[in-house]
Amino acid sequence: MPNIMEIQDVSKIYGPLKALQNITLAIPPGQWLAVMGPSGSGKTTLMNIMGCLDTPSLGEVNLDGVKLSGLSPSGLTALRREAIGLIFQQFHLISYLTALENVMVAQYYHSMVDEAEALEALGRVGLGERARHLPRQLSGGEQQRVCIARALINHPKLILADEPTGNLDETNEGLVMEILHGLHNAGATIVTVTHAPEVARHAERVIVLEHGKLVTDEYQTHPAHRPSGAGSGAGAPAGAGPGTEDGPAAAPETGPQGAAGEAAAPEAGA
Ligand SMILES: Nc1ncnc2c1ncn2[C@@H]1O[C@H](COP(=O)(O)OP(=O)(O)OP(=O)(O)O)[C@@H](O)[C@H]1O
Ligand SMILES: [Mg+2]
Repeated sequence: MPNIMEIQDVSKIYGPLKALQNITLAIPPGQWLAVMGPSGSGKTTLMNIMGCLDTPSLGEVNLDGVKLSGLSPSGLTALRREAIGLIFQQFHLISYLTALENVMVAQYYHSMVDEAEALEALGRVGLGERARHLPRQLSGGEQQRVCIARALINHPKLILADEPTGNLDETNEGLVMEILHGLHNAGATIVTVTHAPEVARHAERVIVLEHGKLVTDEYQTHPAHRPSGAGSGAGAPAGAGPGTEDGPAAAPETGPQGAAGEAAAPEAGA
């Protein structure tokens, strides 16, 4: 099978700064790839390019056989909505919409809204009971799971998660990793950016960036099959997980800015 993503000699240059330097990387379908590296090494920049949120200064990117440099900005956006599920550390939920409505906005941008399907997606991440809550009425872990439901609603070929557990406690980290395992077992291609070795160990392959360069590319012979301390039930089956009852947590206010539903683009370099 052809690679789902091919990155050929890609650089991203901001004036004197090379955020990415001559990156070449191919991701076969079904692979779980972890991207590691120190702060500022280019991880988010690479994710944004993979996710059609940004374009390289030099080099070529192919997503599922489509050459991205040949697409207009609106063509890139359409492809992103079609093929990619984005999960961010900052949740980018729309603060005045319920969990259910946040998921339905993503459907709207993709094709058409379907409340039953959106509810089912929330059920799959253990949030069926909390579908009518606003983001500020959800814990951080619950908000992250709404983001996952939203990212998955369109059955993306490629799931990109930038520090998906960066803001979560151990229990919620376990729940999120379990969902990712369920997706991986179902055949999804996943790229996770992480600082945490215990998150990276779940991936089959780990790359490390330093100063924008790809310095390590290794396959792990025994990736963790499930997160330590997590409950049972592999990730995605309907009704999985009871959800956590942490009560309301400080909701990251992302506001109602522009790109509703497809998750406003993360601030590069954040
Ligand atoms: N829009 C931009 N303009 C100028 N410089 C940028 C821009 N976006 C990113 N950078 C710079 O590019 C480098 C790589 O940033 P990036 O966000 O990819 O790092 P990162 O590895 O994701 O870091 P972190 O672990 O802190 O999230 C940084 O030095 C950053 O300051
Ligand atoms: Mg980053």
